[in-house]
Amino acid sequence: MPAPGPTGKFPQGFLWGVATAAHQVEGGNRHNDWWEAEQRGKVPYRSGDACDHYRLYEADFDLLQAWGHNCHRFSIEWSRVEPEEGQWDSDAIEHYRQVIRALRIRNIEPVVTLHHFSNPAWFSRGGGWLRSDAARVFERYVVRVVEAFGSEVRFWITINEPTVYVLQGYVNGIWPPFEQGKRLKAARVLVALTTAHRKAYRAIKSRRPHAMVGFAHNALQVEPCNAGRATDRVAARLRSYLLNGLIFRLIGASFDFIGLNYYTRCCVRAGRRGMSLVLGRACTTEHHRHQGAKNAVGWEIYPRGLGIVLAEFARIGVPLFITENGVATDDDRLRCSFLDDHLQQVASAAHDGIKLLGYLHWTLMDNFEWHLGTGPRFGLVAVDPQTGARKSRPSAELFARICRGDTTRGGNR
Ligand code: FCB
Repeated sequence: MPAPGPTGKFPQGFLWGVATAAHQVEGGNRHNDWWEAEQRGKVPYRSGDACDHYRLYEADFDLLQAWGHNCHRFSIEWSRVEPEEGQWDSDAIEHYRQVIRALRIRNIEPVVTLHHFSNPAWFSRGGGWLRSDAARVFERYVVRVVEAFGSEVRFWITINEPTVYVLQGYVNGIWPPFEQGKRLKAARVLVALTTAHRKAYRAIKSRRPHAMVGFAHNALQVEPCNAGRATDRVAARLRSYLLNGLIFRLIGASFDFIGLNYYTRCCVRAGRRGMSLVLGRACTTEHHRHQGAKNAVGWEIYPRGLGIVLAEFARIGVPLFITENGVATDDDRLRCSFLDDHLQQVASAAHDGIKLLGYLHWTLMDNFEWHLGTGPRFGLVAVDPQTGARKSRPSAELFARICRGDTTRGGNR
């Protein structure tokens, strides 16, 4: 039976679903650097059992099927597959093979992320992405995975948000390995991640020439705070190059699609000297009165930005895939209007001829939101923190109707 397809303004074969990441939902990922940091109190929260999705994935996938999703993005936890350097856990490999099967039998196309922020603890202890052989070691893991179940997977995302990983880990210093203001290291790690991407791309394509391989980029829409001020305009351009342009230079032409994760925009105001003159500072609402509402973690809700980034990245000339887009909120009505407004942008991009593979909402259920713990609620489904029980929100039903094409909301005119 073919997977249900959308109607309305979305292209034939459009992929609809949600995205998750292993460490945020699986629970018990005790062999990775995040777990280690959590136990040592380096981050204020512990992932613990998270959503226990490692055990409950079939029931969770039943929900996706009932909603008419035809696609699902999840990540493989490298530290489960290779808990010690060079030691492969056949049970973990088998688990992910079963996960893919469970999706396939529900007519849901898997999109597999190979690296979503967490690293095996042994890898981090040895220097992580600063190891001289980091990209090669990552490639070895990718080869294992592709040889184990590559025939079952068409869409691969090598690395999730390299720029965010580098900024949080080596500039802001709030994620493992907690290095603050280390710009040189940040640059080296970015180069290592892009090298790893290229190696992974070749490793997959040489074994599976028909696979579609890309990476997921955090597409931050950067704007000058005051477009009438030349210094703001220059700072916004430079910042945008650093956050959105440079990575594509480093990666070269090694992708079949671009995964875009879109959440917000950043308005930039140039300072008087030094780095703040060159790259500006992100402006706050006090400076920037016309900024819109914020989500529960302080990110401005700016649907138009999605349309703008789609138009910009389409110029690269490969299909785009919205691999994350969502909102942290305790008010589910806001999530519904967020979906509506952002999907209007997607529909109008498709209408303008931009080649789009699909839209994946972040996320299936409330989960472990990295250094913010379980506070922010990004889920279409609420998870009881005590019992782990799932309860779908009205936004899950709205999204289901949009996926099935049986509503005029969300761009389905
Ligand atoms: C993205 C991450 C994802 C989640 C969302 C809210 O940057 O890829 O894991 O944290 O933000």
